[in-house]
Amino acid sequence: MSLSDVLDDRRVMPADVAARMADPKAYGEWAPIHRNLTWLRQNMPLALANVDGYDPFWVVTKYEDIKEIGRQPTIFLNNGIRKTLINQDFARRSDEALAEGRKPFNRSLLTMDAPEHMRYRLIAAPRCSPKRVKTLTDKVREIARGVFDRLEGDGGECDFMDTVSNRYPLRVIIALLGLPPEDEDMLLDMTQRFFSPSDPDVTAEQKGNSIGATANHDVAHEMFEYFSAIVAERRRNPGDDIASVIANAQIDGKPIELFDAASYYMTIATAGHDTTASSTGGAVWALAERPDEFAKVKANRKLIPSLMYEAVRWTSPVSHFMRTATADYTLRGQQIRAGDWLMLCYPSANRDEDIFPDPFEFRADRVPNPQLGFGFGAHVCLGQHLAKLEMQIFFEELFNRVDLVELAGEPRRFDSIVVGGVKRLPLRYRLAK
Ligand code: HEM
Repeated sequence: MSLSDVLDDRRVMPADVAARMADPKAYGEWAPIHRNLTWLRQNMPLALANVDGYDPFWVVTKYEDIKEIGRQPTIFLNNGIRKTLINQDFARRSDEALAEGRKPFNRSLLTMDAPEHMRYRLIAAPRCSPKRVKTLTDKVREIARGVFDRLEGDGGECDFMDTVSNRYPLRVIIALLGLPPEDEDMLLDMTQRFFSPSDPDVTAEQKGNSIGATANHDVAHEMFEYFSAIVAERRRNPGDDIASVIANAQIDGKPIELFDAASYYMTIATAGHDTTASSTGGAVWALAERPDEFAKVKANRKLIPSLMYEAVRWTSPVSHFMRTATADYTLRGQQIRAGDWLMLCYPSANRDEDIFPDPFEFRADRVPNPQLGFGFGAHVCLGQHLAKLEMQIFFEELFNRVDLVELAGEPRRFDSIVVGGVKRLPLRYRLAK
């Protein structure tokens, strides 16, 4: 019996609440999605969404439930392309393509499950440990300084995303993967088009292949071509960088396929860029609206680590990942059945009133702050230590270089249901003397 056959016996949320969970515009406006999630946490913390065109899915809104699921990666799988919310039509087309022997659009850590997942994760994991990441400090600081220099020429007003926040993590990724620096604008455009197939400012014309997907698969092909050439080059001329480690990795004594290596780069390039840009941009937006919080950190830089965690909690750049149950399981008194699909809502976990006092207040000095923005469990963010290093240095530079920030217009977010975040941040600032 499929999930839709038993819907009547289960807790199904109202249709309008369910529809918003799959509506990129609700995420773009941000307040509607948080109103939705707050209502769900209070009234139906684990409920089924039945949205036209989508297989039904459970919406997991509570912090502890997301952790409980994360603790059991063999019961709750990422399950290939179903790792993010896709509509039935797209799922069917993908299944057909696979059945015809075509490759998926990418095969990444995020689409894999045990035992394959851990084998692939271990290729890059040693390079992502706190100790290894620390060795990048000087390079990351040099990049941060170069990006903050761009504020000097902007007459006290800029789109902070374009001038600083988007450039910084991208330049770090470019350095890390040894990509040509002149590709920066092209990579920025490609990542934004990849993650926001429904945002009219980003993708002028929605291409057929990606309708119903959470990422633009036409762009994935462009990326794949770009990164395949880098893999080939690193195979010819290996160095000591992470790109060479991935390109020349072996599993069970055999080199990994070119496709898998290029997919790995794609994941690092995409996962490592928009997320960090959104958390720094979103934090600057919050600080621009709260001069007292800005002043607090300006006067006491020891608050930067807590500001960094608050930035991730507040912005929760990743809006969801999905899991597929492999066995019946009781969660929060609800019967999950084998085959059920579940949406893990990180922004909701990060506003959970049972965990965070006054969750809708942005507090630079919030301690403790067990934010869940990097996920939890076997798939927990592989780049979290790099992201933390980048954010630490970002805030140090911000407070060294700038005395005041205020909004100079209305900020805008991307219409995206996976990696959301800030699209435009018009900012007025005063540089420190
Ligand atoms: C503030 C910045 C970031 C946030 C909020 C973030 C968030 C996340 C989340 C929520 C996941 C999925 C966790 C799960 O399913 O349980 C994830 C996975 C991942 N992230 Fe990040 N991330 C950030 C930065 C980065 C950076 C800088 C990199 C790399 C340079 C990166 C690389 C990855 C990779 C490779 C995965 C897949 C891990 C796996 O499936 O095993 N992320 N991230």
